Amino acid sequence: ADVRIGPDDIRRRKRGVPIVCLTAYTYPVARLLDDHVDLLLVGDSVAMVLHGHKTTLGASLEMMIAHGQAVMRGSAKACVVVDMPAGSYETSAAQALASARRVIDETGCQAVKLEGGIDVAEQIAAIVAAGIPVMGHIGLQPQSVEKDGGYKIKGRTEENMVALFRDGEAVEKAGAFSLVIEGTVETVATELTRRLSIPTIGIGASADCDGQILVIDDMVGLTVDRVPKFVKEYAELRGVVSDAAARYAAEVRSRAFPGPDHVFPSTSGKDKA
Ligand code: KIV
Ligand code: NA
Repeated sequence: ADVRIGPDDIRRRKRGVPIVCLTAYTYPVARLLDDHVDLLLVGDSVAMVLHGHKTTLGASLEMMIAHGQAVMRGSAKACVVVDMPAGSYETSAAQALASARRVIDETGCQAVKLEGGIDVAEQIAAIVAAGIPVMGHIGLQPQSVEKDGGYKIKGRTEENMVALFRDGEAVEKAGAFSLVIEGTVETVATELTRRLSIPTIGIGASADCDGQILVIDDMVGLTVDRVPKFVKEYAELRGVVSDAAARYAAEVRSRAFPGPDHVFPSTSGKDKA
């Protein structure tokens, strides 16, 4: 039987071949990505990307668990990490551990991820002490955009840069196996990658990070709203989907669809749909 890549395998890839990560939220997409990536993140971005919420604050633990289950069903090889949604871990280490346990028990995923640095070090340490691997996430923290007044790049001021180094070191010390660095000045992500002994996974960060991640819908050109500057579109599926819908609509209206291959004539014995 195939054995999944685990958090320990990811940790060992510090300063090695770059770690390939993408988000995934559904069974079919997990099936398509599993052969190509090292890690699939069931990001709380699912609340925006698939559910149309304005921010990731629309994600719930139930939502994360349902998508985590779908991605686990669709993958066999990738390390699967599920995001802890806002409101599920900030209050206390006990709250964080209870939520992490639910995610692991109900999905079977390998690890959880949560946002924050020194402010959530206690939570990370408690989850890790219980035997659950944790991925950190610092820099631009989408769960804090309302508080921060928008999506802003971090590490521009000396003070903020020092805070990012402090936070990255706190996450490592708390026992996280890797760290997502999102939306920072390039040199800050490069320097954090040099300082830390756990792999850094960049998004809008630096090519020097130990791995990279993007939101799947962004990188295949399916995102209908504005995409950030750090996204590279490797395909343009908006046009593919829209064109298919337009041709289908025309064929239904002209009765060209369904054709003879898509119906069951009374003379045929083949009844397998
Ligand atoms: O929710 C998400 O998609 C994420 C990644 C962008 C790192 O946290
Ligand atoms: Na997230």
